[in-house]
Amino acid sequence: MVVGDTMKALVTVGDATFKLQDIKIPTLSAHEVLVKVHAVAQNPTDCKTDANDTSTVLTQTKGNLLLHPRVGNILGCDFAGTVVDSNGTGLRNAGDRVAGVVHGGISPNGAFAEYVAVDAALLIDIPDDMTFENAAQLGVACFTVCQSLYQCLDLPTPLSPTSTPEDILIWSGTSATGQYAVQFAKLAGLRVLSTASAKNVDFVRSLGADEVFEYADSRTPKRIVAATGGTLKYAVDCICEGMTPNQVSMSLGKDGGTIATLLPYQSRRKGVKTVFILAYSALGKAVEFPFPFPQSTEHYENAKGYCKLISEVIATGKIKPVPLRLYPNGLASVKDGFEDMKTGTVHAEKITYRISDTPELQGQ
Ligand SMILES: NC(=O)c1ccc[n+]([C@@H]2O[C@H](COP(=O)([O-])OP(=O)(O)OC[C@H]3O[C@@H](n4cnc5c(N)ncnc54)[C@H](OP(=O)(O)O)[C@@H]3O)[C@@H](O)[C@H]2O)c1
Repeated sequence: MVVGDTMKALVTVGDATFKLQDIKIPTLSAHEVLVKVHAVAQNPTDCKTDANDTSTVLTQTKGNLLLHPRVGNILGCDFAGTVVDSNGTGLRNAGDRVAGVVHGGISPNGAFAEYVAVDAALLIDIPDDMTFENAAQLGVACFTVCQSLYQCLDLPTPLSPTSTPEDILIWSGTSATGQYAVQFAKLAGLRVLSTASAKNVDFVRSLGADEVFEYADSRTPKRIVAATGGTLKYAVDCICEGMTPNQVSMSLGKDGGTIATLLPYQSRRKGVKTVFILAYSALGKAVEFPFPFPQSTEHYENAKGYCKLISEVIATGKIKPVPLRLYPNGLASVKDGFEDMKTGTVHAEKITYRISDTPELQGQ
């Protein structure tokens, strides 16, 4: 396929705004392939990246102040599409249907665009019977789940399930990450405890959770302790805000345990270890924004294995995607999607955009 020089993309223009612009298609590094994007999914991180209302961001890393340009970056992390240039990597062929993650919002390579440059070793295969819309949500959620359950907690995977079910708490089985965590943990033979609002308790049970508690009920940590006989050692906190750091810590057993956290915090409870997970660290580069995180070869090597694992698990057809909330106008709808996410109207759904629905791209 012949690809032109420019593409449409959602580009940051400063003052926390972004516009659909014509810009250069990203140049490929030696290990990257070019993917034509068909559908993208929205994550809270996209809104947080956009939320900076100055044209630059200052962060402090090892005592040095760093200046990040907030103009000319492409938004979006999660994508699904087709490889159009395998760039001689030998890992992918033109036409492969793939999903994955890029660190959108910080450079002129992001998912909310017609094309994205991606590390050829970090792509998930999309099964023939899965739509691009459903596949677009796999990257951030499944990388985060693998880092939490395997890299941090060293638990069994669905490809080698255990016959001695350990208990695990997935706090927020309705969040996008939590929905995948519940399903991966259950398929691995674990006994899954989770939380939801009252109206979503049955939904989280339908994903395979053995016990689901209401997160707003102050008795929930005590009930989890009772349900696990005070022996719970493993948890993933998919919210990490407000009361949850305390609620999750208090749910663990008397000997404490480990919590994989999606935002950084320390537990105040003795014997409880918290490990901050950052999906971007899978990309193998040091991260400065939204949280400083050192470059980790180990995380990168793990992520290559996770892509194979995720591809195999998804191919079984046993994982239910997060219910879609598809917006009508592709990239032109992203402003509405951001507003809806920021005002808290997203419940157990994945905001998704189909690139070809963008009015400016119709008729091309
Ligand atoms: N570190 C990383 O690499 C990483 C990766 C992914 C996400 N994150 C972060 O993790 C958080 C979740 O992201 P996400 O995309 O998975 O979430 P999401 O899909 O946006 O989460 C929405 C759900 O959260 C539930 N919820 C809200 N407050 C809750 C509480 N106190 N306890 C339990 N559930 C609660 C709501 O459930 P109800 O509908 O039942 O009310 C809602 O359905 C965000 O802060 C995100 O930035 C970090």
